[in-house]
Order: sequence, then C-alpha cells, then structure tokens
Amino acid sequence: MSQVTIRHTRAEDIPELIRLQKLAYPPEMPPWSQVKFEHQLEIFPLGQVVAELDGRLVGCASSLVVLWDDWCDSHTWKEITAAGTFRNHNPDGKTLYGAEVFVDPEVRGVGLGHALYEGRRRLCRAMNLKRIIACGRLPGYHKHASEFSAEEYAKRVIWGDFNDPVLGFQLHENFHYCGVIEDYLPEDHESGGNASLIVWLNKRYDPSKPTLIPEEDIL
Ligand SMILES: CC(C)(COP(=O)(O)OP(=O)(O)OC[C@H]1O[C@@H](n2cnc3c(N)ncnc32)[C@H](O)[C@@H]1OP(=O)(O)O)[C@@H](O)C(=O)NCCC(=O)NCCS
Repeated sequence: MSQVTIRHTRAEDIPELIRLQKLAYPPEMPPWSQVKFEHQLEIFPLGQVVAELDGRLVGCASSLVVLWDDWCDSHTWKEITAAGTFRNHNPDGKTLYGAEVFVDPEVRGVGLGHALYEGRRRLCRAMNLKRIIACGRLPGYHKHASEFSAEEYAKRVIWGDFNDPVLGFQLHENFHYCGVIEDYLPEDHESGGNASLIVWLNKRYDPSKPTLIPEEDIL
C-alpha cells in the first residue's frame, strides 16, 4: 500500500519542485525560480508544504498570511504574493492565503491534493487563523469561453453542468465559491486569466486568542 507523507518544504526539495511545477502547468505558465522558492521558505517556512508518495516528491502547497481587508476589493496573483516572493506575508493577518497547489500529473486523482489541502487546514487551525482564502484557476473555461462569461461558467460548474478540474476539486474540499476575479493571472490562458475566489472557514477559530506559532510539527 502506498504511503503518503505531508511535510514542510526543505531547501533541497526546490529543484525537484521546479521540475514538477513545469509538468503541472501549460508551457505559457513557467515554473517559479529557485530564488522565489527560497524567498518563500525564508519568509514563511510553516506555510510551505510538500507531498511525498512512497518517499518521492509529488506535489506542493504554498501559502502566506495576509490582512484580507487590504486585498478583498481587488487583487491579482502578482500583487498579493508580491510576484511570488511572499514579501506581503503579514503575521498580523488572520487569513491563510493559498498561493499555489499542484500535484504531479502522473499521480493525480489518488488523494494527494486532498492531503495537501488537509495540511493547509491543519496549519490554519494550529495557528488559530480565521480562514483560508485562495483564487483558484478555472482551466476548463477555455472550452466554453465563446459561449459563457467566466462567472456563468463557474456557476454552471457549481450547478453540476460542467466539471472543472480545479474548481470541482476545491468545492469537493468544502471551499465556498465567492465569485470570479478577472485578470488575476493573465498568463493562465486556459482560465482566460480568470480565477474563482474561494474560502474555507476555520470553525475552531477563537477571536479571543492571538495567532499561534506552533512549535511542534503539526503536519
Ligand atoms: C487541483 C489538483 C491539485 C488536485 O489534486 P489531486 O491530487 O488530483 O486531487 P485529489 O485526488 O486529492 O482529489 C481530492 C478529492 O477531490 C475530488 N475531485 C478531484 N477533482 C475533482 C473534480 N474536478 N470535481 C469534483 N471532485 C473532484 C476527488 O474525487 C477526491 O475526492 P474523494 O477523496 O472523495 O475521492 C491537481 O489537479 C493539479 O495539480 N492541477 C494542476 C495544477 C493546478 O491547476 N492547481 C490549482 C492552482 S489554483
């Protein structure tokens, strides 16, 4: 039986993560650089998580903490992640922002995305953060873009008329859909540059307590 491990990212994982990220996306969406991954690890190591399958690196989830009120009116991926460096990470924030999640295309559909999302939820609870917010790709949109707006497409995914590989997964992971953000990631041609704003609320969030930095391994 295969063994899935979720653990924090280490510097030595970076070259393999770059290789996998390249496989995970269409060519117009290039992988992050070594330096970008290093910045993320330096700024918020707790938020950087990988998945291993039988000891082999197969996926990654990258997060930062933000003051959501600063960004809720409008933002692009580039703005909120400071072009992927995570310099906007703000420990005073109460929102864990999901900047990236991917799984090796060879091993999709076997629960690794779920395990990475579960790692994120564990982190959110352990830090006593209020919620996880992300802007998910809509990679199935290009097939329907001549007929529907991105908003109409997303609604039809929720209604069960279309299946989107990313929004479908996120809804299955109990995220709530809050609308479409246009021009979120212009190089994401499959999504027409659009993203769906999604949220998961941490039911155990205690506003009377501060943000916690877990000392033991919570993954
Ligand atoms: C999105 C992604 C991370 C999902 O990873 P994955 O490992 O294939 O997903 P899992 O196998 O863990 O799926 C978890 C659950 O969601 C369900 N699910 C997955 N895709 C689904 C879909 N399109 N519609 C409905 N449910 C879906 C699975 O059936 C599974 O449910 P189960 O546990 O009840 O069987 C993966 O497809 C990926 O890497 N995509 C490319 C990169 C990308 O676009 N990332 C998103 C950036 S916003």
